[in-house]
Amino acid sequence: MSNQYTRHRGLRPIVAIGAVSAVLAIITIAWAAQPAAQNPPAAGVTTWSAAATHIATHPKPGMSGTDLPAPGALSGNQQHAALIRKGYFLTVAGDCMPCHSVAGEPAYAGGRAVGTPFGTVFSPNITPSKRDGIGRWTDQQFWNAMHNGIDPGRSLLVFPKYQYPVMPYTAYSKLTRADVMAIKAYLDSLAPVQIKNRPNTMVFPTDLRAGLLAWRLLFFHPHPVKYQPGWSKDTRHGAYLVQALEHCDACHTPRNIAMASIATRTLAGGHITAQSWYAPNITNAKSDGLGGWSNHAILTYLRDGGDMTHGAPFGKMKTVVDDSLSRLPKQDVSDIVDYLRTVKPQPSHAPAIDNTALVTTSIAAGKTLYHDECARCHQNNGEGVNNNIPNLAHNQALWNGNPDNLIAMMLGGFEPWHHNQSAMPRFGAILSDQQIAAITNYVRTSWGNHGKPDATAGTVARLRPLETIEIDLNTGSTQATLQHGKATRRFTDITGRAWFNGNRTDCRMTASLATEYGKRPVQIAGACADHGNQLIGLATINGKTKRIALRLQQNYTANHITSLRLYGPVGKGRTLDAQIALTTVNY
Ligand code: HEC
Ligand code: HEC
Ligand code: HEC
Repeated sequence: MSNQYTRHRGLRPIVAIGAVSAVLAIITIAWAAQPAAQNPPAAGVTTWSAAATHIATHPKPGMSGTDLPAPGALSGNQQHAALIRKGYFLTVAGDCMPCHSVAGEPAYAGGRAVGTPFGTVFSPNITPSKRDGIGRWTDQQFWNAMHNGIDPGRSLLVFPKYQYPVMPYTAYSKLTRADVMAIKAYLDSLAPVQIKNRPNTMVFPTDLRAGLLAWRLLFFHPHPVKYQPGWSKDTRHGAYLVQALEHCDACHTPRNIAMASIATRTLAGGHITAQSWYAPNITNAKSDGLGGWSNHAILTYLRDGGDMTHGAPFGKMKTVVDDSLSRLPKQDVSDIVDYLRTVKPQPSHAPAIDNTALVTTSIAAGKTLYHDECARCHQNNGEGVNNNIPNLAHNQALWNGNPDNLIAMMLGGFEPWHHNQSAMPRFGAILSDQQIAAITNYVRTSWGNHGKPDATAGTVARLRPLETIEIDLNTGSTQATLQHGKATRRFTDITGRAWFNGNRTDCRMTASLATEYGKRPVQIAGACADHGNQLIGLATINGKTKRIALRLQQNYTANHITSLRLYGPVGKGRTLDAQIALTTVNY
């Protein structure tokens, strides 16, 4: 696989928790021999609204880049075909694809990096490949994975192979057995894909799955969806979709220090583990939840990409809408809205303002910067351009809770929701921490937005380093030139890798490029200095090695890196100007 796109999330080794888990695990070793809990959930909602025949398979522009495969082999037994179609609906509603696929590779072949504070877990291949996927799994093994979070195999000889709870089995454990079997029938109907699983990079002792036993004893109490008496059929169906399949609480519920959802704070707003996104309060709280939204507004947001009042889904929520909610029949999403209306209002955590004097200057600076950088699209009054550029005025998503999402959006930009529209550019590599904080505070307090001007350079710095992009240069699409006097030589063969942080103005890249200059080999290797976007290293041209300091520039089109430029003197009057064009398949 030469085209890899890997995101390494920062490791924050809270090893202590892991160690405690491991100790508890050993104390409770006796439990290991016990068979996994088998209590089957009460019958879920099983009348799927004419289900999968309505599911849209065509990718919308800007989505995760992988097409949803329609069920394979529907010929033959009618009953089996109906089971596969139901499984297709359930798999889309369970939003399995974005986690179990990597852009540019077949769906469900795994390889997606899921960050945790303890390291990265890569999702496995769940196509029916007998060699690399789950083609040999029995029904019982698949049920055990989905319902109990236990894979076939052993850990430390005696323990079952517990899954990391990044696989949302805590939600899927609420699915009925019939529904789990339908998901399996759908996955089994797909073409097997021979792509090997990638090894996880969890730090010791969290790399020992046995340690997860303690976590499970403390936090995993599987139970079916709890329906309240008096709920209509639609609301019950919505509850099953939200709790068992869509796992909305995996993001929208705050987590405790051991990364478990806090049950008493369901849907009151949470930070997404090891990422810069905050999933806001979606309880019925009036001030900062969905209390002030009409049913129609929620439906439009969840299914049609939002409106000019509440804005468009972005970040992690965009994948949920793109790959799952927008593809479901309208009735199912409307049932989700019915259920959300029953969620008891809860306040979100409001962060305190630390320095009022500093904030005032920051808002003034933010106004100037806003007019320089943002107004050409979002307009001076923040009102945007109808159906193309979203409104930032009166936009609850922006002033609700803490400023993290607004900052993350400026840092990373995002893709257009509708075809033929503009993208939100990436400002992370252009603006400083101070500047982004200033714009944030201006936007959160202007044009009728009631947010707190609580962003500081520190807030921005905290959100920046979370995403590192690794680029594989071993593709024919990279190009570089070496300038010698007036002569320009072109190279098309570059090998090496580059790692850099996509959201920083300062350089965080280590690069190793090797290429040919006519018949003379050229090698450039180095690491970036902390500041000034310089690559400090060695150039070897025709056998002679020289120290070099090259300028490094990252160029973005919207939020995709499109080229790297390395330039500067490499000795004997030669100047290297390597314009390394990257296509999206590089990363
Ligand atoms: C939030 C991301 C995420 C979502 C959503 C998700 N998975 Fe997973 N899944 C993972 C990760 C990560 C693992 C590996 C866990 C581990 O190594 O302990 C995994 C493991 C599995 C396994 C075990 C496979 C093996 O070879 O060990 C199966 C089966 C599975 N997922 C099926 C599903 C299905 C079906 C859905 C949708 C209903 C789904 N997953 C949704 C991330 C996800
Ligand atoms: C080239 C035009 C352009 C510029 C310049 C621009 N934006 Fe955007 N912005 C967009 C587009 C287009 C979207 C919607 C993208 C989508 O829906 O996928 C967007 C979306 C947003 C959103 C999300 C709103 C919502 O509720 O969905 C925010 C916040 C935002 N921009 C803030 C800013 C800020 C702050 C700046 C200046 C630093 C800025 N933008 C500069 C085009 C632009
Ligand atoms: C993978 C994480 C994730 C999952 C799963 C998820 N969300 Fe979100 N959601 C977010 C993030 C992050 C935001 C903030 C970005 C935005 O406003 O678009 C958000 C925003 C929202 C908003 C807008 C709130 C506001 O104040 O603007 C609603 C409504 C919402 N989600 C509902 C849901 C529902 C319902 C589900 C389950 C069907 C769900 N979400 C599942 C991450 C998630």
